[in-house]
This record gives sequence, C-alpha cells and structure tokens, in this order.
Amino acid sequence: MKHTLAISDKISHAISPDMVGLFFEDINFAADGGLYAEMIENRSFEAVKTKGESHNYVLREDNLYAWSSTSKNPDALEISCNQPVSENNPHYLRFTAKNDGDGFKNKAYDGISLKKGMKYKISFYAREVNYPKGKIKVSVNKDGKTIAKTEIAFNNAKNLPKEWMDTIRVTCDTKEWGYYTGDLEATKDVQKADFEIALTKAGCVEFDLISMIPEDAVAGVFRKDLFNALKDLHPAFLRFPGGCIVEGTSIMRRYQWKNTVGELKNRKINTNLWAVQGGNVTAAMESPDCHYMQSYGIGFYEYFVLCELLSSKKRVCKPLPVLNIGVACQFRSYEVVPVKSEEFQQYIQDALDLIEFANGPVTSKWGKLRASMGHPKPFNLELLAIGNEQWESGCVDLAPRYIAFEKAIHKKYPKIKCIGTAGPFVGNDFHKNAWNFYRKHAATNKAFSYAVDEHYYVAPEWLYDNVAFYDNYPRDVRVFAGEYAAHDANLSNSVDGAVAEAAMMTGMERNGDVVQLASYAPLFNRIGHSQWTPDMIWFDADKVVLTPSYYVQKLFSDYAGDAALELNGQEKKLRESKLYISAVKDKAANTKIIKIVNGSDEEQILELTDKNGKLLTGKAEFVRMVAMSLKAKKVVATDAIGTSGGTKAVSPDFMSNLKVCEKRAPEDAMYTCSKDKFSGEVTIPAKSVLVVKFIS
Ligand code: AHR
Repeated sequence: MKHTLAISDKISHAISPDMVGLFFEDINFAADGGLYAEMIENRSFEAVKTKGESHNYVLREDNLYAWSSTSKNPDALEISCNQPVSENNPHYLRFTAKNDGDGFKNKAYDGISLKKGMKYKISFYAREVNYPKGKIKVSVNKDGKTIAKTEIAFNNAKNLPKEWMDTIRVTCDTKEWGYYTGDLEATKDVQKADFEIALTKAGCVEFDLISMIPEDAVAGVFRKDLFNALKDLHPAFLRFPGGCIVEGTSIMRRYQWKNTVGELKNRKINTNLWAVQGGNVTAAMESPDCHYMQSYGIGFYEYFVLCELLSSKKRVCKPLPVLNIGVACQFRSYEVVPVKSEEFQQYIQDALDLIEFANGPVTSKWGKLRASMGHPKPFNLELLAIGNEQWESGCVDLAPRYIAFEKAIHKKYPKIKCIGTAGPFVGNDFHKNAWNFYRKHAATNKAFSYAVDEHYYVAPEWLYDNVAFYDNYPRDVRVFAGEYAAHDANLSNSVDGAVAEAAMMTGMERNGDVVQLASYAPLFNRIGHSQWTPDMIWFDADKVVLTPSYYVQKLFSDYAGDAALELNGQEKKLRESKLYISAVKDKAANTKIIKIVNGSDEEQILELTDKNGKLLTGKAEFVRMVAMSLKAKKVVATDAIGTSGGTKAVSPDFMSNLKVCEKRAPEDAMYTCSKDKFSGEVTIPAKSVLVVKFIS
C-alpha cells in the first residue's frame, strides 16, 4: 500500500536530550557471571543456597559451592571462619594437600573460556597453615591438558603489608594473610575448561577471594565485549542497581549501597533475590541458579565509573541510582520499616550520604572514600530515584515515604532531581493514584518530582494500541519509562516484539516534551541462566548476541533529535495502516530525521514530500532493522555501524545451537546503514523499522 507523509519545517516542541538510556539490574547473571569480568564463581566462599519460592524460602550456607577437589582426599577442602581476611565475609577455604600436586578447582559459571595470547590476572589471599617454602600452582586445564599455568611463590614478602615488613623479619612461615598476584597466558583458545589451584607438595594453606580477570577488562572491572555493546548504544543515563533487588526479598537482604563500596574484601556479599525465580524451579523448589549471589564486585563506585566510561562526545551517560525507601519487594513480602522510626531515618541518611559520596568534596566523609577508591573528582550525580516499584497499599504508605525523602534531599541538595515511582503496571488505580499524588504536590512544589517512573511489560499489541499513550499526558510532571518491553506469548526476543517497541518509541519521541527518560528492561541475559526473558543482550562465556530490541534502542539513540516536527495529525491516519512515525530535527546537523515503523504483515510504501506536497529528493542515510528472513530490497550496507548485521557478532553455528538449546533464543535481525540517493519514496518491509536522515 502507498501512503504520503508531508514533512513540516515547523518545530512543535523540544524533546528530551536524555531519552534513551539503560536499566541495569543483576538479574539473569547480568553482573556476577556477566558484565563483571570476574571469572571465578563464589570466589570468597560465601555462597548461600536459596530454596523455595520468592515469598517463602530457606537459606542455607553452601560455602564450597562451585569448588571441588582434584585429589581423592575427601577432606581436602574445609571451610573455616576463625580468622577471616575480613569480618564482613567470614568464610574462607582451608586446603590440605596430602600429595605433591593435589589441588582444587572452580566450576567458573559454565567453565573457563580463554583466548589464545590473552593474559589473565590472578589474585588471592592466602595464609600458611603448614607449607614452608611452598609454591602455589595456578592453571587452566581441559581434558587433562594444561592451557595456561603460572607458579606463585608463596609467602612472597613483597605481598605482605608494609607495616609487617618494617616491624618483623618476614620469613616463609609468617602465619598471616598475604595478598598474591600473578598472570596466566593462554596458549590456545579453549572453552568450558577448569580453573585449578594446586600445591606443589604436601601441606596446608588457607585461601580467600580467589580471582581471575582478563587483562582486557575495561578499567579492570567490566567484560570488554559486553561493555562495548553498551558503549555502542550511547546511553543518556544508567539506572542501577535494579529493579526488585533494590528492595530484596526481605529488608535484611535489600541492596545497601554502603556495603558495595570500599575495598573488595570488605564488601558484604549478599544473596540475590533472583536465586528463587525463573521458569526452571523444580518440584524440590530449587532453581538451577539457587546459588545466585551478589559479590558487589560491581558496586556503587563501579556503577558511577561505568557511567563515565559510557559517556562520549556524543552524549554524557548520567548516573541514576535507585534507592530503597524502607520496604522489601512488594511482590514478595509485607515487610516495611515504619516511617516514624529511627531506622527509617537511616534510609534517608543513606540517601544523603550517597549524594555526598558521588558529589561531595574530598574533605567530606563520603567524598574522601570516593577519592580513596581512585576518583577525587565528583561524579556529578543529578538524578535520584526514590523507590523502585512501590504502590500505595494496605501495607505500604508510599506517600509519606516519598515526601520524607524529597524534603530531606532538597533541603540539603536542592539541585538533585528526585524521581518518583508509579508502581509496576500502568493503567490501573495504583498507577492513577500515584500520578495524582505527584501532580498534586507538583502544583505547589515544582521540584517535588522531576519525573515519575512507570513500568510496562506488555504484549506487542498493547504497544501498537498505545502508541498515543503519552499524547494526552499532562505536561506538569515528566515521565520516566524506567522499564518496558514487548512480551509475546513465548516471552522471546522476536522481531515482532522489537518492532512493537519501536512503534511505542515513536510515541515517546513525539511526546519528548513529557517523556524525559526511557529504558528497555532487562538489559542482559546469560544463556542458560535466565530468570526473565526477553532481554536486550544475550551472552555466554565468550559470545554476545544482540537482539532485535537492542537494534531498536540503538536506532533511536543514534538518530535522536532535539526537537519534534509538527505532523499535523498525519500520524493518526497512518496508524490505521499500522505505520507509526515520528519526525525530528537534529539542530546541530541542521537536518531532519524520519522514523517509520511498519507493524503490519505487508510491505508498505511511503512518499515523503515537503510541506507543499513536493517529493523530497537528495541524499539520505537509511537505517533499517528488519527480520533476517525478510531482507529489505535495495539495501546496500555501505556504511556499517559496528556490526552491520545482528548475526554478524556471533557465528551462524552458535545461533543455530542457541536456538536448539534455548526455546526463547532471540530471532535474527539485520541492522543496516547505507547512504544513498533519495527518490522521494521509501519501501518499508513488513514488521520492520526504517530511519531516513536527510543529508542534503
Ligand atoms: O526487570 C525485571 C523486574 O521487573 C525488575 O526487577 C522489577 O523492577 C520489575 O518488576
């Protein structure tokens, strides 16, 4: 079918420069076993097994989880908590070798993957029980063959704290914890290998915080390929650390940012709420990921650093932390801390301290900690979300909580932009009541809430039907679409779902004066460890799969404009044919960008004219997201952006294996960019997205 769209020169309103951002939560092994480059699982021997359902579970210490002996000695591995490296993480390993070469190995999530020639940094704390002048052998092995190895001289004096060296004669039997480091270099590529530590002769040594991180990890922390996938999106903000983990299954297990900063050894490891979730919970009420923990190797400091690293000349990535407001997750618990209690005041103090940690001078208590971690300059925190998915209920009094936080924050830090929560769904009474609350206060206090966070995981059809959702939103308080995604019947990452998300995003963009921030959710999914699908980026130990939803986000981020152009109602007419559009101006480049989403099952043709009906011609950049099976006609990928096709990042074999083993594996999509002459009309294949950016 052929349609016409006249492009106006008139700007209808400015649009948010911060619209397309990221939401990060440690779900689906997004942090530990994901973006955190640490390869060793349960490195601090603090694992806990969570058994049951999310609202009714038992926790049992399982400190040796992921570790096993390589010798026949059944007592080789013992857990102790007598004199730990840190009281915050009291357990450690006592290892006894009866024979030369006895050792222990780590399952390392799905096994160790190494790349030939790459170096891997090894570190651990160790203390001699009985191992005079011994050596520690660290290696990676597969099927009896050693792929990488190193020997670390034990009780190496240079590793001991300076004060000991100054005051005592360091000998090989100093019975104190020492910190040891070394490098492993891979002699070839390997997958699903074992990480092993062995003593070269009989003896007994204690170990804690055993770590292996690839040398290419970004800032020594972030897995490079996953980081690059984020960087390529040029996000305007990063919402962290969740999600439901902010609240926790119980108040005790909530996310406490102060436990996640400072030296790694002192970060208080926590269980992960998602250990009891997922479709795979067996009859024994045990999820395969029941040992899912939060090591906090990526803690609040690293999240702030990540924002800096994701920033570029194109766009600054603003940090957007989410705070617990004294409630456990409302889906899972009735636990609350009363507003009129000293305990609640501590939650508010934690918020104020966080702002000081991020922005305070190095002379302040929390600014000093930031500086000691390596960042004397402030992180320029400006956005702060108060609560994740809270709603006013018989148990939770959301209003006084928000009011107390807002008042205290703005009293001390008037420039901080507080973000409210409108609960987990849109369109119901909880959602309406929340908005009424924020709007009522906004009438007398403009700064009351900068934006309100609303979430929708919905069928693709809902997104098509609600493209105009924001058309009639009052403009008094802005929107933060903090979590959204199309959920089809299979809960898979389909092109169909991604196209529906793109349609919705045209609606956000057309209403960019009220929709300030938006982030797809969840972000990551480690294949075989999902608690929630669909997700934007899938990965395993060494591969990354960028989904159609990823490409839609990239497309809206790369081709964002700063002002919406008037459409004069044409979008409504086109919607009848399942064509969804937005037209924006990129002021810096002095050009227009048109986004066209075809949600129908038919190819459609659109003529683009100027305001007088004259066909537009000249040169344009075309970007398309289309199903692999429906390759767009006349597309020449002359100017590939990163990977020019969604499947190019991974091998075809990997994709077909993935489809066999994962029912919900993402569908292949093609993402192409080309510069070409523009003849005045464009063809938009069924279920695809097209961006046209005029060059001349
Ligand atoms: O994104 C997954 C979960 O969905 C988040 O943790 C929570 O905020 C929402 O319910």
